[in-house]
Amino acid sequence: MKKNNKKFPSSGTGSDNILSAIKKRKSKDIKWDSGKMFGFVYHPGDEISQFIEQVYNLYFYENALNPSLFPSIREFENEIVSMTASLLNAGDDFAGNITSGGTESIFLAIKTARDISRQNKPHIKNPEIIVPVTAHPAFNKAAHYLGIKVIPVLAGEDKRVDLDALKNAISSSTILIACSAPTFPHGVVDPVDKIAQLALEHNIFCHVDACLGGFMLPFIEKMDFPVPLYDFRIPGVTSISADAHKYGYAPKGVSIIIYRDSKIRKQQFFVHTDWPGGIFGTPCFQGTRSAASVVSFWALVHLLGMKGYLELAGKTMEAAKFIMKNINRIPGLKIISNPEMSVFAFTSDHNDIYLIADEMASRGWHLDRQQFPESLHMTITHSNTVQAEPFIKDLLKSVNKVRKSGFHKVSSSIKVSSAQILSRILPSETFRKITRSGASGIHTSGKNKPSKSAVIYGIAASFENRKDVRLMILDLLDQMYRL
Ligand SMILES: Cc1ncc(COP(=O)(O)O)c(C=O)c1O
Repeated sequence: MKKNNKKFPSSGTGSDNILSAIKKRKSKDIKWDSGKMFGFVYHPGDEISQFIEQVYNLYFYENALNPSLFPSIREFENEIVSMTASLLNAGDDFAGNITSGGTESIFLAIKTARDISRQNKPHIKNPEIIVPVTAHPAFNKAAHYLGIKVIPVLAGEDKRVDLDALKNAISSSTILIACSAPTFPHGVVDPVDKIAQLALEHNIFCHVDACLGGFMLPFIEKMDFPVPLYDFRIPGVTSISADAHKYGYAPKGVSIIIYRDSKIRKQQFFVHTDWPGGIFGTPCFQGTRSAASVVSFWALVHLLGMKGYLELAGKTMEAAKFIMKNINRIPGLKIISNPEMSVFAFTSDHNDIYLIADEMASRGWHLDRQQFPESLHMTITHSNTVQAEPFIKDLLKSVNKVRKSGFHKVSSSIKVSSAQILSRILPSETFRKITRSGASGIHTSGKNKPSKSAVIYGIAASFENRKDVRLMILDLLDQMYRL
């Protein structure tokens, strides 16, 4: 047995000791409730969450797998789907289900499109889906699992999918076009009306990924923020995914997949009739599954109603607009494109944006780094609304510090080009080892010198061969999920 491996405990431990051991470990985690982290956790405020915890506890151990044993869970699920369909302006003939998250909802939309196409278009032997490069990797993941080829299409200057490129990508093997409302990287809504029109003309599926926007865009539209059409009001949109565990503020594990046409949903289901354990059928991917988050979301919707969600969305938009406006005022920084809601990215013409992120990290702010272009990502949620002004003050200080330290884009590009040279001359295994040791310090920031975080992103972005980055990440994952 390797020295780090743990043996199953031979006897029990007192609950106090267990709790303190857990709390000790948890103390290493990010303090998201400070409002200095963006995204990942969507929290509606303590008063609401305390009530939702009570609801969650009512279904703590229940299993949503068997609707005949737990009819209440099925009722909650069906009502959530119906209420979500009304938010997304579905007609009367919709059908949908609750899934574990955006990834599963997207997976199911693609599986349904694949299986319907197998039936109706048997000439398609190698199905393809068209996926804008800005769409969530869940599309690539689903295609990988389902044996479907992804045809990537680039985004235009405004980061919305390039329609000409998309038109050119359509082939006789295309079964589905993906689009986002909004995209994760830049928070912009793709031109869904034009995309769905193309899908309609070619008799192919059009899935709108509204995982981020499904419980935000409907509310901000009602408050007269400019929002282009993105939902079932557009003919040609065949399915939409919307995540309740994002801007719906549900505990983790609740997303909704909805089809315009109820008939096609059966292709999403799985049935196995020959199992000695009985006839087995499930509507989605999971078998045994928790009901606690689902019922909690039902409770949230009823607790808040439209009025409550409008209030949460309104406060969030106020903070997002304030932050975007003030980022654009800082010389050298700019918001990328024109994001419709509270998700956006900013970049810098003059300074190394990753160094700015490191400086922000030393002030307690967690900002996700992005590539193509190098930028920092922000998802403003209710928890961040109190931190809008302090954020801008610290950002200003961080930009000034990076500027004074002299690490401008040019110094970063020297690093990048030396990394490029390294990646060319070293055997890839050796180079991977080097970058691996850089990756282990991913969150540490140095004083007055580029931190490992900036270096590792510089190196990763500089690999000419993306296969090397892939191998590096495989190594990293392999190391992370070991003791
Ligand atoms: C636009 C978009 N789609 C899909 C997903 C995947 O959702 P999940 O992480 O719930 O599987 C995300 C997650 O951030 C997202 O932002």
